[in-house]
Amino acid sequence: MSLSKRSWAEPFKIKMVELLKMTTPAQRQKAIKEAGYNTFLLKSEDVYIDLLTDSGTSAMSDQQWAGMMLGDEAYAGSKNFYKLEKAVQKYYGYKYLIPTHQGRGAENILSQVMIKKGDIVPGNMYFTTTRLHQELAGGTFADVIIDEAHDSESLHPFKGNVDLGKLDKLVKKYGAKKISYVCVAVTVNLAGGQPVSMQNLKELRQYTNKHGIKVMLDMTRIAENAYFIQQREKGYAKKSIAAIVKEMCGYTDGATFSGKKDALVNIGGFLAVNDKDIYEDASNMVVVYEGLHTYGGMAGRDMEAMATGIEESVQDEHMKARVGQVLYLGDSLLEAGIPIVLPVGGHGIFLDAKRFLPHIKQDQFPAQALAAELYVDSGVRAMERGIVSAGRNKKTGDHYYPKLELVRLTIPRRVYTQAHMDVISESVQHVYEHRDKVKGLKMVYEPKYLRFFQARFEKLK
Ligand code: F0G
Repeated sequence: MSLSKRSWAEPFKIKMVELLKMTTPAQRQKAIKEAGYNTFLLKSEDVYIDLLTDSGTSAMSDQQWAGMMLGDEAYAGSKNFYKLEKAVQKYYGYKYLIPTHQGRGAENILSQVMIKKGDIVPGNMYFTTTRLHQELAGGTFADVIIDEAHDSESLHPFKGNVDLGKLDKLVKKYGAKKISYVCVAVTVNLAGGQPVSMQNLKELRQYTNKHGIKVMLDMTRIAENAYFIQQREKGYAKKSIAAIVKEMCGYTDGATFSGKKDALVNIGGFLAVNDKDIYEDASNMVVVYEGLHTYGGMAGRDMEAMATGIEESVQDEHMKARVGQVLYLGDSLLEAGIPIVLPVGGHGIFLDAKRFLPHIKQDQFPAQALAAELYVDSGVRAMERGIVSAGRNKKTGDHYYPKLELVRLTIPRRVYTQAHMDVISESVQHVYEHRDKVKGLKMVYEPKYLRFFQARFEKLK
């Protein structure tokens, strides 16, 4: 046997397992109907493989669990805060840390501190909570991602890149003073976990320096972005994930972070900045919404686990296995001819519901219907990322009709095995073979904010 191609496996072994309940198709039919065909409204115990999100669903390491016993649960000045602050300074290079209960807490604080009513907030595609906080603070989000990001079949290696031409148009139209900051997400969740290149971050820094505009990262999945830079960008193949992450942060003025993704914890987040004035405003604001500026909504033990998780997240072997598992599932689906967003991103596979279910019109919620169908087939829980997630235009009241109508199969970190990936792939293939029978949906309840979480549907006849 030739050993030119050797298999590799995860750089960990499993110490504890969580048993799952197995259900029948009839039980799942009933469960999804009761959940209004919204996978967010299913009970977790009725789910076999949970791909709803990679957020807060990671398996912590023994080191992180051991750290939970070191929680210094003081109201003020917990030693775990200082450990977290050190980790943020060491791995990301930002000077000031404002802990928050999760990412959206940081988005709220940043938006309130930096956005004035009537401002424009350019970003490389929207994220649901990020855009909502920008709007609640009086800003208007403007999409400045490159066009390729909206095309599920474009093979551009850095589909998350900012289009500097689009940004320049906004600056010319509104003036730099009206731009609160440029919000750059790494990776871009709603584009399919697509990365931003280092070159793009450098060019953005040069451009914004020239115009006196700040750049704030949404660095929720920065280590995954760094992995793609290492694999795809010239000059980075020999650099470590840790070095790439630090260089990326170096081209920005601050960041919001949901620790629930890269940092391998179940809860937590932060805002980090270099500017002392912004820090002072933010650390005053955090006491109103989150908690004292040395805990910001997290227990001491949570800050301890997050500090350790940040260190684990930038290890090369960890990231190779993490993204490797996602690519394994992607390859299996591609081989079977399933329409997915390409290239495969860092945190999950995105099924292209427009191509999967071409007979269902977008206002009959094809991605929502596909996620429900997949659950009934195998107990795999996925999430809609299309017209339901996009919400409504504030002015016209009509749905936004995003080009991308996707179902996200999000892979939690260090949780599932290769055999689980095989089961997922086979289920998607089975639904694909029977796709003609899948019916569209009608929305029968629509909440005011972030409707995808709680909206309810009925099946069309
Ligand atoms: N930014 C990005 C890119 C995200 O993906 C998320 C959360 C947030 C900010 C907000 O962070 O949840 O800690 O408040 N994304 C989750 C997801 C919910 O499933 O993609 P949070």
